[in-house]
Parts: sequence; C-alpha cells; structure tokens
Amino acid sequence: MTPTNDYTITQFIDDARAVLEQHPDDREAVVAALSPLVERVLWDDGLFDEKYRASRENGRDRFLYHSAPDGSLQIYVVEFEPGKPTPVHDHVTWGLIGVCGGRQRTGRYERIDDGSDPQHAELRLVSDEVLERGAFYPLLPPNDIHRIETVGDSPSYSLHVLGVDLGRQKRNIFNVETGEVTAVDGRGM
Ligand SMILES: [Fe+2]
Repeated sequence: MTPTNDYTITQFIDDARAVLEQHPDDREAVVAALSPLVERVLWDDGLFDEKYRASRENGRDRFLYHSAPDGSLQIYVVEFEPGKPTPVHDHVTWGLIGVCGGRQRTGRYERIDDGSDPQHAELRLVSDEVLERGAFYPLLPPNDIHRIETVGDSPSYSLHVLGVDLGRQKRNIFNVETGEVTAVDGRGM
C-alpha cells in the first residue's frame, strides 16, 4: 500500500475502540480487523508529537497515545536505541507491533514444548527479518514471543497495540539456550 499520513493516531484510537466493542471475545477477529488500520497509522508523523512523550520503561523512551482505564487497550510507541537489544520476551496478550521508524531486526519464536512448566521453555526461531516503517506483525499467545534489535546508528521505533496493560501483570523473558524462563514487569519492550 502507498504510504500515506492522512490517517492519524487519533482516528486509529477511535477505530480500535470500536473494533474491540464489535469483537469482545474474539482476539483473532480483533487482530484481523486492526491489521489494515495499523498498517496505515504507521505513516502518521503525528506519532512523534512531543505531547505524547511518556515515562521511560525498561530503560526505553515511549510515546503514549491511549491507555484504557480497565487495561483492555494500550497504544504506544517504544524507542529502541542501537546497541540495546531486547531479550527474547512475550506479551501475554493479543496485540500488533508495527515499525514506524528506523530499522528493526525482529526475531519471532514459537514454543515447541507443551508449556506446562512456567520456568522452562523450548523455543524455535521461526523468522528473523529486518523490518522498516510500514511492516507489522500480530501477537496471538502462545505465538507472541520475539526479540527486537535496532540495525544501524539511529534508534528504531515500533507501535505497540496491546490487549492488556503490561504495567499491571507479569510477563516472561526467555533464555533460548538454557530454556530458562524469568517473569518480568514493565511496558518498555
Ligand atoms: Fe515486545
């Protein structure tokens, strides 16, 4: 699709709330309906308006656009500085992540054990790509495990649209070699 910035983050917030109301119990339908909207809003330069600048989390700057009081919808951008890759981690919710600036090497993993041990996981790398503005991917647990690393000397940025407030619940980081799983807090990755 041709990049355009005539669709704003403000419109996206309204549309995303409507989609959630239409599909209250169907996370796949929510992700499918939001996908073309995420693809469009990634080109809105208004994403970087200073009025949206929010607190740093996990050592990363953020821009916050929407935080539902009940935690059911969170929309923000995270800045990923060069040389500070994320660990392999999950999001414990449906969601969409889309790149809106810079170059973002993104490894996506699937869990190949049965998930029965909360402290141990066996993961398989399913894709490893350098994504640029306009690229996006879904998060649908258990297929929500990934790692982000900025490529080049400038920061990269990705929009996060998530169905829970990660400031209120634990999620996990994974050691791919040893299988160790560690619960962590925070919204910054
Ligand atoms: Fe993430």
